[in-house]
This record gives sequence, C-alpha cells and structure tokens, in this order.
Amino acid sequence: MPKNLDLFSAPAQSEQAQAAIKIEALRQQINRWAHLYYVQDAPEVPDAEYDRVFRALQALEAQFPGLVTPESPTQRVGGAPRPELTPVRHAVPMLSIHTETDVSPAGAQAFDARVRRELGLAADAPPVAYVAELKFDGLAMNLRYEAGVLVQAATRGDGEVGEDVTHNIRTMRQIPLRLPSDVPPVLEVRGEVYMARADFENLNEAQRERGQKTFINPRNTAAGAVRQLDPAIAAQRPLKFFAYGFGEVTPVEQGGPDFATHFDLLQQLKQWGFPVAAQTTQALGASELIAFHERIAAERDQLPYDIDGVVYKVDSLALQRQLGFKTREPRWAVAHKYPAQEMVTRIEGIDVQVGRTGKLTPVARLAPVFVGGVTVTNATLHNLFEIRKKGVRVGDQVVVRRAGDVIPEVVGTLPPLADSPEVIFVDGVPVKHIHGHPPRETYVPNFRMPTHCPICGSDVVREPGEANHRCTGGLFCPAQRKEALLHFAARRAMDIDGLGEKLVDQLVDGAVVHTLPDLYRIGLVGLLALERMGEKSAQNLLAALEKSKSTTLARFLFALGIRHVGEATAKDLARHFGSLDAILNATTEELLQVPDVGPVVAEAIHTFLAQPHNLEVVEQLRACGVHWPEGPPVERTTLPLAGQTVVLTGTLPTLTREDAKAMLEAAGAKVAGSVSKKTHYVVAGEDAGSKLAKAQELGVAVLDKTGLMALLGKSA
Ligand code: IVH
Repeated sequence: MPKNLDLFSAPAQSEQAQAAIKIEALRQQINRWAHLYYVQDAPEVPDAEYDRVFRALQALEAQFPGLVTPESPTQRVGGAPRPELTPVRHAVPMLSIHTETDVSPAGAQAFDARVRRELGLAADAPPVAYVAELKFDGLAMNLRYEAGVLVQAATRGDGEVGEDVTHNIRTMRQIPLRLPSDVPPVLEVRGEVYMARADFENLNEAQRERGQKTFINPRNTAAGAVRQLDPAIAAQRPLKFFAYGFGEVTPVEQGGPDFATHFDLLQQLKQWGFPVAAQTTQALGASELIAFHERIAAERDQLPYDIDGVVYKVDSLALQRQLGFKTREPRWAVAHKYPAQEMVTRIEGIDVQVGRTGKLTPVARLAPVFVGGVTVTNATLHNLFEIRKKGVRVGDQVVVRRAGDVIPEVVGTLPPLADSPEVIFVDGVPVKHIHGHPPRETYVPNFRMPTHCPICGSDVVREPGEANHRCTGGLFCPAQRKEALLHFAARRAMDIDGLGEKLVDQLVDGAVVHTLPDLYRIGLVGLLALERMGEKSAQNLLAALEKSKSTTLARFLFALGIRHVGEATAKDLARHFGSLDAILNATTEELLQVPDVGPVVAEAIHTFLAQPHNLEVVEQLRACGVHWPEGPPVERTTLPLAGQTVVLTGTLPTLTREDAKAMLEAAGAKVAGSVSKKTHYVVAGEDAGSKLAKAQELGVAVLDKTGLMALLGKSA
C-alpha cells in the first residue's frame, strides 16, 4: 500500500536529508578553513582538526554517494587521467598586453601620455586614475563558474582557443570550487597560475632525493604541471593563483554586477575568496606609476614568486571601454618590464675556483649575456654532481639565471633550438626541453674535476657522502689564505675597514702575509712597499687594524672561519662559554650543550682546535693585542627574552637595525627575517612594508621604538 510505503521510506529520506545538511555544513567549514590556510596564510585550526573534519565529510559522502557533488572539497583530486587535452573556445578572447620595453621610468610616462592623448585630455586636465599590479611570471588561466560552481578551467592558448585543464586546476587549494551565493550566474575569473620559488626549490630537492630529473624554473614547472594529463601528478605540484580580471560575466541588464572601477572588481574577487596580490594598488597619474615601478623593483627579489614586471591598467571601466582595443591588445593596459632574470647563452669553458674552505667550485665561462640588469660572463655550476645531473657540457646552450645579488647560476641546458622539432611554446617560452634534462640518449661529460688544486697543487679529495671536492692545502693554499683573510676582515667579523680583495691579493701574492697574525705585523713600511699604496691609505688601514683589535669573543670566533661556525653559532658559543679558554678546553660533549650545536658543528670545532697551527694563530693574535671582554657563561634560558622571536622592519629613529638586533640578541631574543605565526613581536619603524601588514594580519604584537626599549627594559 502506498501509505505504508510512504511510512517506511520517510525515515530513510529524512536520514538522507539530515546527512545533506550535515555535509553542507562540513563543506562550508572546510572551505572556510582552506581559504584561511591557503589564501590568507592565516590558519585558524591545527592541521589535525582540519583533517578530522575532512575525514568526517569523506565518511558521510561514502555513506551517501548520491550526495557527492563535483565541487565538494573531497573531489579535488580524483578522476582518471585524460587521453589528451580538449580545446576550449573562450567566450571572451584572452588578450595579451602591450609590453613597454623601456625598462626605465620613462616607460610609465609613455603609457600615461598615450592614454591621455587617446582620451583627448588637455595638458592641464587632472591625472588619470590607474591600478598598478604585479606582472606574474606564470601562465594565464580562465576559470568559468556557472551558478557559483567551477565548471571549467582553460589555458590561454592562442587567445581564442585554449585547453581544458579543469582536472588539474581543481586540485589547487587556492581556487574555490564553489563561490558564495551572491555571484552572478556566469562568472569567468582570470588570473595567473604560478609556483612560488620556495615550493619550486623544495620540489627540486625532492626530485633530487628520488634521483629524478630537476626542473628549470618555476614558470615552466607550473606550465608543465597545468598541462599534465593525470591530475594526480598536478596535485603533487604546489601551484598557486592570483586573480587579476574577468572574462565573460552575466551582463548588468541580466542582473550581473555593475562595477565602476577595476579596483572595485578586484576587491569583489577578494571578497569571493580569490587571492589578489597585496601589492595591487590604485595610482594617480604617471608619477605614482613610476613610484610603484621603483618600489616593486626594490622588493622584487624578496617576493616569494617571480614577476617579470608590473602592469598598469586604467581604473575606470567606462574609460577602459572608451579606449578599447588595438589589434589584440587593450589600449587601457600596459606591461612595464624589468630586466630579464633568465637568459640563454653558451658555455665556452669551465674553470675551477678554490674557496675559503678549500671547496672547488666549477664556474662556467659564458658568452657574455645581459641578465638581471648586468652583463654576465661567469656562472656557478656548484659542483661536479650538479654538472652531471643537469647534463651540462662545454659548448652547450644553457639557461643562466641571475636574481638580485645572487651569484649567477647555470640552471640547465637547451639543445640548439633550431634543429629540435619537438620544442613547443607556452606563452612564447620553449617548454618541452626546458622541462627537465635535455633528451640525450647518452650523456658523455666533457669536464673532469682536477686531481690537484689549480692554485697550490695540493691533492684534491672528496669525502665520502660529500658532493664537494676540496683542496687539502689549508692555509698553505694561497686561494684559501686569501679567502680566510677576507673573511677575517669582514664587517661582521673583525671589521677591518679598507682590507678588500685587491689588497689581500697583493698581500698574499707578494708573500707579505702568510697567516692571520701577519696582518697586525705589516706596519707602515711594509704597506708603503706595496704598489699603488699611498701614505694616507696606509695610515687609514693601520688605524682600522688597530681599531679591530678591540672586538667581541663572538666576532673573533666567527672571524677564525671554522667550518660550520657562522655568526649565530659564534654568538651562541661566546654566550655559553663566556671565555675563549673555556671553549679551547671544551670537550665535544660540552660543545654539544650549546643550543643549535649538533655533532657536525662540534666535530668541526674540535678538529679545528686540534690542529696545533690553528692554536698558534689564536695565540699569536692575542699576542698582537686582539682582545675582547670576557665574562662568566650566560645561561640562555635565564635571559629576559629567551625563546622570543622578533622581526625588525622599517627604519627606527636614531637606532640602526644592526644595533637593535644586537640589543635584542644580547637579551636572548632570536631576530628573524620574516613574520610567521611563531613571531612574538614585530618592531616596525618608518616605511615598514609587507612585514607589518603580515603582522597585523596574523595578530602579532607590533612595537615602535618606545615599545622596543620597554621590551628591552630600557627607557627610550
Ligand atoms: S591582464 C587585457 N594582469 O601577462 C589584459 N595579465 O600579455 C589581460 N599577466 O599571459 C591580462 N600578470 O597571464 C594581466 N596583473 C596582470 C598580469 C597579467 C601577468 C600575464 C597574463 C598574460 C600576459 C598578458
């Protein structure tokens, strides 16, 4: 009887209905947490709690398979590999941006002048309002949402037709699978998929550990991951996303959104849960565009991802419509580039340099190439294993990278592009071969490590398990002696002003200085005997040498150049033992008591002090008058700020960053470079930038100079 049937199915139905409500609640919770974690970088619950709720959702969905929907957070990975990528015709073409090749500020002026001319603005008309953004170095993506659900993700392709990569994009946690209910029925979000540099390094590290091919750069790795056929592979590649615009959107007449400005549109995207770069800002007229270009140039190397320039867009959407397009580029936007950080050139030879620790570094001699704003003729190859792994040979076409002050490096090889038919291009960059090793059947290296030091002729050895070859000559090797002297004189070590590379070369090559204490014995006559040395410079250097004698134990220890003993370890040692003699007499076990000193460091210190000639050097330096205040050992944990992590940002009135750091460290605090959940205080001075923003975002206590002094227990 129908009535009875109804009675029977009623409880089952309500069970399903209840599950549906529960599932919805769990999904909302997970989506919110995932957004906080992946987009805002501000997790709200421990990972374990997230996992617990996630598993609860999985269990419920397993019980009610009919309730599983593609936009459920459990469905990010899954689905079978595709046989091939399907072409997608874009509803609104994905345009490119005109590139202003003039990397000087004039580039921004030229764009502003063009916009003003096209708009018919008089010279005395008010400045045009723009939005300035970063030009991310990844690949463009179109995300199509229908009724708030992600239905398709497509690459740009040729602008008209791209490829369907939804299966891979779904695996990206930063990309919402479902949007809040206030979105228009059709919404296409456009932006850039990229890989952060640290994620790229970690990926390569993992590849290396597994003995697999390494990738050349974040951009091509991201492009390769997005175009994978198997979403399981893409899911393992840490991809990220920044939104910067719209594609097709339900028109205003049909109830779609009505924005006045591009900036409003970006704010709305942020509201809907898309990552929008924090640097994005409104800018008035050419002068503010120029200021933005300069500010980002200075920040570029500190950004966690690669950019190749900035983008300026006319802010008013009405003005954008008025300006329109020219061929395939909008007249209302321009890309203002920075010098490229990666270029292709040829390796003409490989030289071997000997460093302070005796490490032999193979250095590629390159056909000169303009990278990262300078002409580069040498690039490090790190060690023999890196050469082998990258399959580098003398004569190869290679990709050279130079970012910021970083030493240029050879990142990988390219076959001659002209005769390689398999090369494909993604946004104008060849990917097939860049993505991993060149497809060589057999790699026959044409470089060998020398068996004897190219500088002093001593034997070259490689310790088991070590990647590096070393010269065994020690301070007998002039190369090591020079580096040891430069390290000793460095600002953070003995701080001997004026003792630079040229002078050290002269002193060592002229056999004036053999060991560190010789520095304090040169005297005026010895100095004046050097070529190109004037009376004034000689006097200055002697004064600097004299001044350096009064130092600290930590600086002295660091200056000795003991392997693995960096500035921080030297400070820890000095603090822990209080006096040099206590360190000289310490056993390995006692050394291990020092915070952050592990077996490798303890062994290195022990080995150093076990060499009679090293002890001799230490004694002679003391005999020459090098001295420092000594005191009783200080227990780290008894210091007032022990266990506290502090980050400094911006400029403080009347206090240098170095001094602030020294004061904090003396009080036991750790001074870190970046703000995280673990930071206890951020000390913000004038012009504090992203670190301050991050602190506020994470709710970390922010101090000014007065606050800092109070923390240190002193009056400002
Ligand atoms: S807007 C109509 N904004 O640059 C303008 N593009 O040639 C459409 N890109 O491959 C693009 N950062 O993926 C825009 N902040 C940004 C961008 C950006 C990087 C890339 C884009 C495309 C190329 C445009």
